[in-house]
Amino acid sequence: MFSISFRHMPARITSALAFTVLASGAIAQTSQPVKVGLMLPTSGTFAELGKTVANGFKLYVSENGGKLAGRTVQYVELDDESDPSKASENANKLVKRDRVDVLVGTIHSGVAMTMARVARDTNTLMIVPNAGAAEITGSMCAPNVFRSSFSNWQPGYASGLLAARKHKTAVTISWKYAAGDESVRGFREGFEKGGGRVIKDLNLPFPNVEFQPLLTELATIKPEAAYVFVAGAGQVKFVRDYAAAGLKNSIPLYGAFITEGTLAAQGDAASGLQTALHYADGLKNPKNEAFIASYRKVFNATPDVFAVQGYDAAQLFAAGLNAVKGDTKKKAEMIKAMENAKLESPRGPLSFSKSHNPIQDMYVRVAMGNKNVMTDVIVKALADPSPDCKN
Ligand code: BEZ
Repeated sequence: MFSISFRHMPARITSALAFTVLASGAIAQTSQPVKVGLMLPTSGTFAELGKTVANGFKLYVSENGGKLAGRTVQYVELDDESDPSKASENANKLVKRDRVDVLVGTIHSGVAMTMARVARDTNTLMIVPNAGAAEITGSMCAPNVFRSSFSNWQPGYASGLLAARKHKTAVTISWKYAAGDESVRGFREGFEKGGGRVIKDLNLPFPNVEFQPLLTELATIKPEAAYVFVAGAGQVKFVRDYAAAGLKNSIPLYGAFITEGTLAAQGDAASGLQTALHYADGLKNPKNEAFIASYRKVFNATPDVFAVQGYDAAQLFAAGLNAVKGDTKKKAEMIKAMENAKLESPRGPLSFSKSHNPIQDMYVRVAMGNKNVMTDVIVKALADPSPDCKN
């Protein structure tokens, strides 16, 4: 192995040499591809969401000629199967074996919490492009961990405010894991703030889709409204089952994600459903119009919120990389630039709270045909309170 001994050289020469060695190291590093570890599901209930996040990330990179801060982007991709029991091994593979410069993932809150632990312990830069687990930007928050999506509390809270505009009582239905529990907690807070009361929480294990017993119980309780957190393939079945059980007209259904990206598969069962989320189809801003056109051209599909979150994860990473001209060794400078980033997102203006969670507008949308059409802004610049983050 090549090495230099400085021991017998005059100080003037050693410092010049040391500078040259360091500078050439930085040049060598920045002429190498920057490695992006995409840990997302490509199988199971959240497969479509994982694919769409990856599409969004890659779209931003390809719009920039396949490079960020002058460095070619190399992807290392891994199917996390939305399985928390495999999360530690998978994340460690990307960090220790593949030596990625940034860990991007994932959809499932339970998997993402373990990834964040690995990122924190190894001081690896991480951007969460979906999973809303409170812990990630709460008690476990870390300087090197960012989120380009939402905390589970944010859309839950906005949905509670929305439902409280018309109803006084509600029952919730959710998958029993971090995302379901936190989304329901957010809903309850918003609903109570608006004068409503949650009278019962019903749940089932992730990713179970046997909804019938819960729908039967809901029909017996007869609340004024229902709030649901299930996602991905599960939400298609839930919305269809809800309509087939004859509940759609008698107990209005609310939910943040339940119509996102799935209207074609849900058909009439979803028509007219009101949701609250940080994106809406056809939002009128120049960035979104350009984003939709570009996404359609490359993928021959219409983007949804998951594509936006992936795109913004790449924008956020680029903001850090640009500040250090691609030199990922200057981590503190990169982090500072990411913390201060003001992104022009297809969702509207996007900045980050002290805990590295998005500050964003929450929209009211109504499902019409194949679109979740924006009708209103229910909360402007909503930030997760993250009281446990000591960043
Ligand atoms: C989550 O696990 O955090 C999650 C999954 C799908 C959609 C939204 C949140």
